[in-house]
Amino acid sequence: MKNIVVLVSGSGTNLQRIIDTIENGEIRDAEISLVVADRECYGLERAKNQHIEHLLIPRGRNFSSELGRVIPENTDLIVLAGFLSILKPEFCEKWNGKIINIHPALLPKFGGKGMWGHHVHHAVIEAGEKESGATVHFVTSGIDEGEAILQKSFTVTQDDTPETLAEKVHLIEYEIFPKAINKVLNNVSI
Ligand code: GRF
Repeated sequence: MKNIVVLVSGSGTNLQRIIDTIENGEIRDAEISLVVADRECYGLERAKNQHIEHLLIPRGRNFSSELGRVIPENTDLIVLAGFLSILKPEFCEKWNGKIINIHPALLPKFGGKGMWGHHVHHAVIEAGEKESGATVHFVTSGIDEGEAILQKSFTVTQDDTPETLAEKVHLIEYEIFPKAINKVLNNVSI
């Protein structure tokens, strides 16, 4: 059985999808051993409702070192599922190859500092992009720079707004995140 730690900052719909796809076997042989939030958020409530061990480490300078203290050594994968803090380079190096993130755009476009949530969708509309999508990638000390694991796109239409893009991106995320997690954890091809 593989152990996953999930980090959240928001509503946690991706966390819920991970919980559900572990349960239905889409993600094989895995369990969530811990959910950590960096702020009060509904993601934490979801963990509580599912009786998954969870804790809040307030965001700030000491977040990465405190996280390092609570993460079980036998953790196979750390999954950032709508997590907004930047992890320290030492943390990323220690867990190199075992941390993944989901980003709401087609990296390497629309990534880096300040590119999160609605900022990304606004930027995509402003740039007149014909496509957007989501990317699951490894986390390194360079923000949104780690190798992509899985990416899927959709067509941006004239009527799209940042809000409709967010909805469309979420649907893509629910599809590719479990696949990417299963791929990394169980070494399966997609
Ligand atoms: C997702 O769009 C993810 O790509 C971004 O934050 C959002 C989190 O949504 N990093 P949720 O909390 O999983 O609903």
